[in-house]
Amino acid sequence: MADDAARRGQRVYDRWAEYGVLYRAVDRLTRSVRKTAGVALGVGAGDAVLDLGCGPGGSLPILADAVGADGTVIGVDYSAGMVRAATERARANPPAAVIRGDAGGLPLRDDAVDAAFASLALSAMPAIGGVLDEVERVVRPGGRLVVVDGRAPDGAAGSALRAVYRRLVNFRNPDVLAVLRHRFGSVTVVESFDAGLEFVARADVA
Ligand SMILES: C[S@@+](CC[C@H](N)C(=O)[O-])C[C@H]1O[C@@H](n2cnc3c(N)ncnc32)[C@H](O)[C@@H]1O
Repeated sequence: MADDAARRGQRVYDRWAEYGVLYRAVDRLTRSVRKTAGVALGVGAGDAVLDLGCGPGGSLPILADAVGADGTVIGVDYSAGMVRAATERARANPPAAVIRGDAGGLPLRDDAVDAAFASLALSAMPAIGGVLDEVERVVRPGGRLVVVDGRAPDGAAGSALRAVYRRLVNFRNPDVLAVLRHRFGSVTVVESFDAGLEFVARADVA
């Protein structure tokens, strides 16, 4: 996790972690999308789910509900500030737990989870190829990856927005859906909104 993009990303998100009020507002605005994504994971009681780039933990309550008390929910984030905020959230939502780590080198054994979830996170991950390698390693064969994310519009407005997003939220991957399709072949778009710029998508992990 030594490169400049990753270091910058951690700094950006450590700073964002100080704005809990803002994050709680984002959680409220995106709750129904997160719920849709939680259902798309197809997990049930006793299953194990990974929340990649969990941020302050806005999805942890939904994931914890989905797997119940006998399940496992592991949030991973590389920002110390985000991990602090998410750990508080996890305490109130067992069985959720949070660890600090790089999504490109997950501290998990092979086939450790039934499904992985990434909300507004893959677009902010500088080395997305390595992250998807790790998803394929830690999700058991037949498991799923569900992604909530978005892309900037095409054209001049899009490039201007991408530059702003890059500064604000370390936006690195302008078309996550295309990356997922290239990697997993068949990807189901479960829900798409804002004229297709935001989506919930599910990929089956072989
Ligand atoms: C836009 S936030 C989204 C947070 C949360 N998933 C949500 O839906 O609110 C992106 C998160 O991904 C984390 N992140 C980015 N790259 C990462 C990496 N390589 N490893 C772990 N976490 C990463 C950031 O620290 C940040 O908390």
